[in-house]
Amino acid sequence: MKVAVVGTGYVGLVSGTCFAETGNTVICVDNNPQKVESLKKGKMTIYEPGLDVLFDRNTKEGRLTFTTSLEEGIKDAEVIFLALPTPPGEDGSADLKYILGVADDLGKTMKKYAVIVDKSTVPVGTSEKVRAAIAANATVEFDVVSNPEFLREGVAVDDFMKPDRVVVGTESERAQEIMKRLYAPLVRQGNPVIFMDERSAEMTKYAANSFLAMKITFMNEIANLCERAGADVDNVRKGIGTDSRIGKRFLFPGIGYGGSCFPKDVQALGKTAAEYNYDFKILKSVMKVNDKQKTKMMPLVKDYFDGELKGKTIAIWGLAFKPHTDDIREAPALYNIKSLRRAGAKVVVFDPEAMDNIKKEIGRKVKYAKSMYEAIEGADALMIMTEWPEFRSPDFEKIGAALKNKVIFDGRNLYDLSNMENKGFTYYSIGRKV
Ligand code: UGA
Repeated sequence: MKVAVVGTGYVGLVSGTCFAETGNTVICVDNNPQKVESLKKGKMTIYEPGLDVLFDRNTKEGRLTFTTSLEEGIKDAEVIFLALPTPPGEDGSADLKYILGVADDLGKTMKKYAVIVDKSTVPVGTSEKVRAAIAANATVEFDVVSNPEFLREGVAVDDFMKPDRVVVGTESERAQEIMKRLYAPLVRQGNPVIFMDERSAEMTKYAANSFLAMKITFMNEIANLCERAGADVDNVRKGIGTDSRIGKRFLFPGIGYGGSCFPKDVQALGKTAAEYNYDFKILKSVMKVNDKQKTKMMPLVKDYFDGELKGKTIAIWGLAFKPHTDDIREAPALYNIKSLRRAGAKVVVFDPEAMDNIKKEIGRKVKYAKSMYEAIEGADALMIMTEWPEFRSPDFEKIGAALKNKVIFDGRNLYDLSNMENKGFTYYSIGRKV
């Protein structure tokens, strides 16, 4: 099939590349000439494990091309994906200016029937707005479909190629048929394409992300309570996760969820609720608890140093909001760096992938180490903010020798408690005993 993808951000590039991989001819459109130039030269503009192999193959074989011209990009397309940013506006609701701007242009440029697919996370009712914006100028028939994306950064290729399900919001049979054909190679194992109306599809995306954010937040609260009640959250997690109604995944407590999706989407769903005069109490609590959880370790750090962090150097391992990404948006590490500096501490940081992004964000406010061990050399304490695999089994003797105090504040529960005790570390983690 001939597919156009408008917007070569994270979702757009992954979707375009994966649709090319399943044999379609894909043209990605972006209005940023530098980005398109770089993609044309075969240089990927995002970091995503495994995507480079597919990107190389499909660009070389000519199934994946790039352009800055919307007209050229959509000329032959049967399906046009909109994978455009929906940043939170000042009031927290999703700003639709990019999507509606392109919809307006599409109406003016489309020369034949196509299915326009909203891939971006958009509030309930957006499909109708997109339809109206296109219809204002369109001279041909078209359908607008909501097809939310559920991929996770870091495992996006797998999530895209083997989705648990594909949600398609449209009541047009013609559009359903085209979407069924497009997704057929990805749902061969019997995982469903679930058709529904557009509003329900749009709501499904927010409900899924908010539910997961709530699940994590619930576990964070259980962990906080375990600390007070003398229970171990690891045991509780295993104990409840084996109940198939609860499920094992997304039960890991930590220093709060971050990233470009959960915080934004929970906020936007809250905004939608407010618009419909619904007091969505759980969502409000989720946001509040998560904000607090991010810097939950700060009081422990302060107490350890008798309330005085001036002149202390704290090393941080992990800056990305989660492993296998260079994304630092809403990352707990950012909040902790701020709090540590405000308390007068010096901060040395290391992350396997996110160093460039953090430099852009905070510049010379912290010191940048070239390796995890360089970061701790002479530091007063170590804080762990992201569970990168390489932090999981470090050389503890080297850590003990490098740090001034054998103390670790671990926001991701990487190490075994008794092991740390045997090695003589003071070890703080989440929801477990010190
Ligand atoms: C999330 C959803 O998982 C995807 O399904 C969705 O498509 C995506 O948002 C989106 O809307 O685009 P992502 O933000 O990439 O994906 O990251 P997740 O792997 O879901 O992690 C989100 C946050 O939750 C991270 O900060 C992570 O550290 C935290 N988390 C996750 C926990 O604290 N505990 C867990 O058990 C799981």
